[in-house]
Amino acid sequence: MMYKVVLIPGDGIGPEVAEATQRIVEAAGVKIDWIVEEAGAHVLEATGKLVPQSVYDAIERYGVALKGPITTPVGTGFKSINVALRQKYNLFANVRPVKSYPGIGRYSDVDLVIFRENTEDLYAGLENRISPDEVHGIKVITRQASQRIAQEAFTYARQMGRKKVCAVHKANIMKQADGLFLEAVREVAADYQDIDYSEVIVDNMCMQLVMYPEKYDVIVTENLYGDILSDLAAGLVGGLGLVPGANIGDDCAIFEAVHGSAPDIAGHGIANPTALTLSAAMMLDYLGEKESAQRIRKAIWEVLEKKESLTLDLGGAANTQTFTEVVIHAL
Ligand code: NAI
Ligand code: MG
Repeated sequence: MMYKVVLIPGDGIGPEVAEATQRIVEAAGVKIDWIVEEAGAHVLEATGKLVPQSVYDAIERYGVALKGPITTPVGTGFKSINVALRQKYNLFANVRPVKSYPGIGRYSDVDLVIFRENTEDLYAGLENRISPDEVHGIKVITRQASQRIAQEAFTYARQMGRKKVCAVHKANIMKQADGLFLEAVREVAADYQDIDYSEVIVDNMCMQLVMYPEKYDVIVTENLYGDILSDLAAGLVGGLGLVPGANIGDDCAIFEAVHGSAPDIAGHGIANPTALTLSAAMMLDYLGEKESAQRIRKAIWEVLEKKESLTLDLGGAANTQTFTEVVIHAL
């Protein structure tokens, strides 16, 4: 079986980790015809557009994409293309598994999956300049999107034999918006009596995760809290170099790491490709290539466990290329 998958290498370390990931996927024996599409800051300079039309055409045609990070200009008119893609294709669920590897990171027993609502909240992009000195950012929460992300989280929990789902919110302050989110999640929770359901306020959750990350299992939350908690959770297990993600919709899916373009290390060939490679493994699961996905995860586990070829972010001396070769050897 030959799959057609759109590959958007992106900016900064994107092309470096994308190449590594392509090699590892190929070594796992999965045949993929990569439809490479350029998007990002480097394309903006050349064409005036962050995302050329051909990227949208390819995603619509093939329905599955692996995407590197894209640099989003801060504070200017350009909307984040990540947000634009998630909204355009209604990729309502952002799924981010965060797991400890032996002897890496500050904790040894983290195994949680964050389900982040991906289409609304303060990311809806509704900001109004009321006067030169006042801006109103509008937070959008709908029952439908809240129910859908909750449904996704509970379905996953049951399927994967997980025991607990925790909703993270700030309904004590945003009584209406987060109140509606909780109301919607509770309705879904009621259908899953076999799963232990709890609710934690987001600021407390930050402390809980730093002190007792092992107590948490599946987390379901709104867009902004999910973004922040994802990076926090990555920090518990060794950093952004390790944490993958998926953006799932009804008709298409885009797989990407949690990390950004890492301008501080881009071009040096030292980025850790694990996060994007594990995102590709999630993509293989989605495509039905579960065995290859599992083999990739196992190879990475073995390499990280041995600690002979860790990348710089994990305290080692390997660069992207040597790490990639060791993973391929393990495969
Ligand atoms: P970042 O995630 O790019 O970097 C944060 C820190 O983690 C840096 O010190 C970086 O070197 C390190 N890091 C990240 N990934 C790594 C890897 N694979 N291996 C080793 N070290 C790694 O976050 P930052 O600096 O806030 O954002 C940079 C740019 O990326 C911004 O323009 C931002 O908008 C964009 N961004 C894009 C995302 C996407 O396309 N999905 C997601 C997050 C940020
Ligand atoms: Mg983020």
